[in-house]
Amino acid sequence: MLNQLSAENSVRLRAFFDEAGYTESNLRKHLGAAELPSSQLRNRPRLFDRTSAATQLNTLLRWFWIGSAQDAQQIAGLIPDDFLALLLESGLLAAEAGMLAPRAMLLHFDGFLVASDHPTAIENKQAEMVLWPNPTSKFLSRFAVSRHSRATLDLGTGSGILSLMASRFSDAVVATDLNPRAVECARFNARLNGIDNIEVFGGDCFAPVAGRCFDLILSNPPFFITPQTDYMFCDNPMDLDGLCRRLVKEGPAHLNEGGYMQMLCEWAQIKGQPWEERVAEWLQGTGCDAWVMKGLTQNPEEYAQHRIRETSQDTSEDAANYELYMSYYRRRQVEAIHDGLFVMRRRTGQNFVRIEEVPPTPSGNLGEMVLSTFAAHDVLRENNTDEKLLALSPRLADHVRLEQVCFASDSQWKAETLNLRLTSGFAFHVTVQPLVAEFLISLDGTRTAETAIRDFAAKANAPVEKVLIECISMVRKLIERGFIAGV
Ligand SMILES: C[S@@+](CC[C@H](N)C(=O)[O-])C[C@H]1O[C@@H](n2cnc3c(N)ncnc32)[C@H](O)[C@@H]1O
Repeated sequence: MLNQLSAENSVRLRAFFDEAGYTESNLRKHLGAAELPSSQLRNRPRLFDRTSAATQLNTLLRWFWIGSAQDAQQIAGLIPDDFLALLLESGLLAAEAGMLAPRAMLLHFDGFLVASDHPTAIENKQAEMVLWPNPTSKFLSRFAVSRHSRATLDLGTGSGILSLMASRFSDAVVATDLNPRAVECARFNARLNGIDNIEVFGGDCFAPVAGRCFDLILSNPPFFITPQTDYMFCDNPMDLDGLCRRLVKEGPAHLNEGGYMQMLCEWAQIKGQPWEERVAEWLQGTGCDAWVMKGLTQNPEEYAQHRIRETSQDTSEDAANYELYMSYYRRRQVEAIHDGLFVMRRRTGQNFVRIEEVPPTPSGNLGEMVLSTFAAHDVLRENNTDEKLLALSPRLADHVRLEQVCFASDSQWKAETLNLRLTSGFAFHVTVQPLVAEFLISLDGTRTAETAIRDFAAKANAPVEKVLIECISMVRKLIERGFIAGV
């Protein structure tokens, strides 16, 4: 698909796109919305209209955004000859029958210019298409633990986007993919962006990195739970969610002590089994602490409809496809399909496993949030008795807000509830009594929990032993949730 250019020519090519105005902000301005061309969205006429003037930028947009071949004579003179030669040499363009046709899409992600296949590849049912940077890649990259890593693995690299992102904080990145086209594409993108600490290998799961260990493993694997494997980039090739289970089981052997593995996942819920149980089994005996954040839950019917709409354009196949999907789920007694993020940290000792549903649309620095959540569990483990916890000097976290909900009564606002809410990370909240809110604001990190609780009991005129027991259990929960830092 794509040919490696020399490092020098790659840098020239990248600079040419920037100079021609093929930049993220310009694209949005120029196209109205940086929406990918799609038959479902029926946006091609609008995109063609926005790019109708014969300019250099429009020529590039028609090739590398809309995915349309253009008459070589009509665009003559718009693209400098030396760059046209580079576009052809790299394989981004191909000349055929007087036309110049794009062989990749180019889009921006986090400051990188990234080549991938075009969305029309799904319409053309190309099983080995290489996925473009998309909301799932962005989601995982936001959560990535982006502290210094000696070695990072990006398993199922696709366009290489997560590797590019990780190259900024890693000494070395290894990117792997089963799809040879993805291997080529990831190598091409590393070079196009002038990155030289990424190695790319082809192969199945961890086979290309046998015997190697990493500080960070990132994976956005093909997790769709589908009866067929039409597309390598999205369809879980094993029964139900088998590939994700396999990665959870095999990943820890490739983590250094203290190293993190972060993986997006979908898993099935089988009739009669609580949703947490299936993934709890995956995590058993891995030698890792784990935090599973469950997001969306869909029933099989809506899931099937959604997936069919995403991966098949031919509506005449809808009924047969739906039947295929539903009989697959019915035979396996699938009651629901959940999506979420797995974070595992290899640690010798007794491990914790936290599996929970999380609020949508997290905000702030999510990599930091992951680290502070694991650190909070460490504090609780190291201070696993009431005596030890009472000796800590806890402090209310900076990103906690107190919200009061009132109701109208007799022309007056009456307090109904008080909620503590996190304003960064997941918007967890807890309802508290006014007295408790007062106690929590007194936790400023200068006094031990014991002193703060004893003062509070005296102020509230309450029996100190009882208050100690209740407060310490609350402090423990609030440290775990990130409302209080245990110092
Ligand atoms: C959902 S795409 C993710 C691409 C990219 N990491 C991203 O986030 O945009 C999944 C990738 O996993 C690759 N893949 C599928 N099965 C694999 C396997 N058994 N071993 C390694 N990679 C695999 C696919 O070819 C595809 O590139």
